[in-house]
Amino acid sequence: MTKNKIKYVCVECKHSTPQWLGKCPSCNSWNTFHEELKKKLNTTKSNTKKPTPLGKITSVEEKRYSTGLIEFDRVLGGGFVKDSLTLIGGDPGIGKSTLLLQTCGNLARLNSKDKILYVTGEESESQIFLRSKRLNINEKNILVLNETSLDEITLSIKELKPAFLILDSIQTTISNEVNGSAGSLTQIKETTFEIMNLSKGLGVTSIIIGHVTKDGSLAGPKILEHMVDTVISFEQDKCEGYRVLRSIKNRFGSNSEVGIFQMSSTGLKEINMIKRTTTNNKFGSAWTTVLEGNRSLIIEIQSLVNENKTSYGKRICQGVDQTRVNILIAIIEKYLGISLSNFDIFINITEGISTKSSSIDLCIIASILSSYFLKPVDEKLLIIGEVGLTGSIAITPNIEKRLSHIKGQGFTELISNIRNKKAFSSSEIKYCKVENLKDLIEFQFPKKLAV
Ligand code: TYD
Ligand code: MG
Repeated sequence: MTKNKIKYVCVECKHSTPQWLGKCPSCNSWNTFHEELKKKLNTTKSNTKKPTPLGKITSVEEKRYSTGLIEFDRVLGGGFVKDSLTLIGGDPGIGKSTLLLQTCGNLARLNSKDKILYVTGEESESQIFLRSKRLNINEKNILVLNETSLDEITLSIKELKPAFLILDSIQTTISNEVNGSAGSLTQIKETTFEIMNLSKGLGVTSIIIGHVTKDGSLAGPKILEHMVDTVISFEQDKCEGYRVLRSIKNRFGSNSEVGIFQMSSTGLKEINMIKRTTTNNKFGSAWTTVLEGNRSLIIEIQSLVNENKTSYGKRICQGVDQTRVNILIAIIEKYLGISLSNFDIFINITEGISTKSSSIDLCIIASILSSYFLKPVDEKLLIIGEVGLTGSIAITPNIEKRLSHIKGQGFTELISNIRNKKAFSSSEIKYCKVENLKDLIEFQFPKKLAV
């Protein structure tokens, strides 16, 4: 016969003692001990579950639901896996609720026979309504519940039997089963555990939103990350301007993928959607790529170089570092003998993207020269390279990754300095090696300069 023992556990720090104490010796909190049953292992049972030989286990292909957002799907490994539990964390104001409401709209459209329950403890129903109007979402199979009690939420799930549950957020949900205020370690653990049981037991694909704490960890304790299937973090990129979805843990896919978004007046916009326009004679425009995680972003750099007849030239930059641009202008003047001091130079990365990547140096120079010489850069050309103070072009690392997302975008030629030409020997892209600025002039602006 097994005998259960009683132990006392602190709700704040989980310190346990065999007898009740007024003050926790571990975290010094008062009145935080509560009783728990410590079950003894029953090892006498004869009908224990037998392990299955690995070779005899049959696997079932998991069903996935697309989020309707290519960037989000990629991070998840192809959409939400049926009945899985996903945790999405990020700083307040980053756009978690917006992303999930947009996803809700897409899920509702793509699975019109299924119900989607959006539980919000953060905002009122009317706030959600206003947001959904702004995002142009009015699907009837989306049900909004303004509730913080886990019991009530559980009842609603059992009653409505939704296919999808979105819980915004885990920090506002309270369980009556355990002590502690909303957002405390015990509450977060208990509510996540209950939602996990519900999603697996009733077949509900669930997504919970969690705030990042001051120290930067998701929803406080790392404990949550072990309990859920997938952990996604939504962050502001170091290069301001866009927001990045990153997979931290993924039981059903790779965790090296990122998704890139930008907040607009009508919600989050995916950045993979840059449409390459094909206008001829666009002086000052050149194309390059920057790496964000494993993702390669295609960007267009535009320059306008205009003579200033009254004073020294101004330099105005958007999306690129002005100091870097000043250095590149000095490099052009020194090594190509072009004097730009009486020219205004305006530089911009289109689509509002910002980057501090130095691999765009050569492309910035090409776009400045294109505007200066009034000679367009062929838009089938991709220009990648960091330019040194000696006018030399550094070897571009990770070229395979940089070229991984250019398919179908109409590029046929690459100007760069790479070590391993075999890296893309199978692709249809022609490679032009440039080791210094004079090579760039020879390829792109021949006869424009006596070099
Ligand atoms: P929100 O999704 O509420 O962030 P979180 O849930 O992570 O706290 O909103 C993020 C910010 O985005 C908020 O300041 C309002 C702004 N926003 C827009 O700029 N455009 C929009 O279409 C929406 C819905 C929000
Ligand atoms: Mg929110």
